[in-house]
Amino acid sequence: MTTIKLDTRAAEPFLPAGAVQSLKEDAVSARRALEDGTCPGNDFLGWLHLPSSITPEFIADIQATADTLRSECDAVVVAGIGGSYLGAKAIIEALGDTFGWLRKAQSGPAVLFAGNNIGEDYLAELTDLLKGRRFGVINISKSGTTTETALAFRLLKKQCEQQRGKDEARRVIVAVTDAKRGAARTTADKEGYKSYVIPDNVGGRFSVLTPVGLLPIAVAGFDIAALVKGAQEMEAATAADVPFEENPAMQYAAVRNALYRAGKKIEIMANYQPKLHYMAEWWKQLYGESEGKQGKGIFPASVDLTTDLHSMGQWIQDGERTIFETVLSVEQPEKTLLFPHDDENLDGLNFLEGRRVDQVNKMAELGTRLAHIDGGVPNIRISMPRLDEHALGELIYFFEVGCGVSGLLLGVNPFDQPGVEAYKKNMFALLGKPGYEVEGEALRARLED
Ligand code: PA5
Repeated sequence: MTTIKLDTRAAEPFLPAGAVQSLKEDAVSARRALEDGTCPGNDFLGWLHLPSSITPEFIADIQATADTLRSECDAVVVAGIGGSYLGAKAIIEALGDTFGWLRKAQSGPAVLFAGNNIGEDYLAELTDLLKGRRFGVINISKSGTTTETALAFRLLKKQCEQQRGKDEARRVIVAVTDAKRGAARTTADKEGYKSYVIPDNVGGRFSVLTPVGLLPIAVAGFDIAALVKGAQEMEAATAADVPFEENPAMQYAAVRNALYRAGKKIEIMANYQPKLHYMAEWWKQLYGESEGKQGKGIFPASVDLTTDLHSMGQWIQDGERTIFETVLSVEQPEKTLLFPHDDENLDGLNFLEGRRVDQVNKMAELGTRLAHIDGGVPNIRISMPRLDEHALGELIYFFEVGCGVSGLLLGVNPFDQPGVEAYKKNMFALLGKPGYEVEGEALRARLED
């Protein structure tokens, strides 16, 4: 049974009468087209029944690899970018101890991320931190050729081999990549690394429930079987034959498209738990890369609340009324912290004595929702009972299928990303990559004009 809840009631008053209902038929058809494989991008639908196709044996295999890394490493660096890192990062941050890093008694290796930027300081500081440490690497790239990831992997591979010797390094370097193509595959096969395949028909941003996400999450010590179970349950709850009224993915897709048609061009995901920061980053990639094309698409933005109420709150309350807000709320925190009494009460906060910190947070959430609604911001609320693997598995799959339906309602192919190539071509040309020399000269001439 699924546990996350979608509440769109505070969005509907901002829509013309019948706007959501008028999208019902199209939403049902879009979900059916995903099922039947008759939609644009139908060669990338491997994610649709991915949860239910994951076997206990597959999970056990990933767990065994994770256990090797956990026992042989003090740190494991996940090299990957975009869909090849955000899902794992989101789940690990959501489930992890915020200050785990600083705790001496942390069990298992620290999971670090690289290959998601080209910051020289970042990489220099990382390689410096790893000096003398027993570290391993998970090299994740579907294409196997992504520059950011390949650059970091070359540095990390060399360092790992220098510090641990080639034979030991081979045991703690794992590749997650294409079955046949790309440099990551060539290297993995040549070096004899343990490797996992990212299925051809699963796009990067839909790949968190493949070893792309599952392996790093297992290395971090979290229960991937429970994560997959949550996703399986959401797969059933959002199936093509689940009626529109009961199907949260169809509902979410229809409401956000109705809002878009009513001029709400920006969806702001607001969380009230710092641990969900990266969940919003993952969601932004999923929706941004899937929908932003052909001059169309809701711009996915995010804020961490209440933090950003002190920076972006003014804009949300009072700025251009082209936004809607989707609140991601967690009903029950994992820990309990009560507000203490203070005899002097100099801060005037004794009225909160004995209450949970989360109660204050919840009132902030409710008060903010109401204020934003009063300020003209339609509101969608997605609530999860708690931040655990099962609920996060549900949430991941809910957003994936919601994204597929939503992109089709928008009239785009949600599963390609042609726009991502433009910067790469220019960067290669400017760097003088063999084969790009002519374009490089033309670009430099343009910059000099
Ligand atoms: O969703 C996508 O396809 C992209 O964001 C990719 O995940 C990202 O570009 C990384 O690509 P790759 O896994 O091929 O290195």
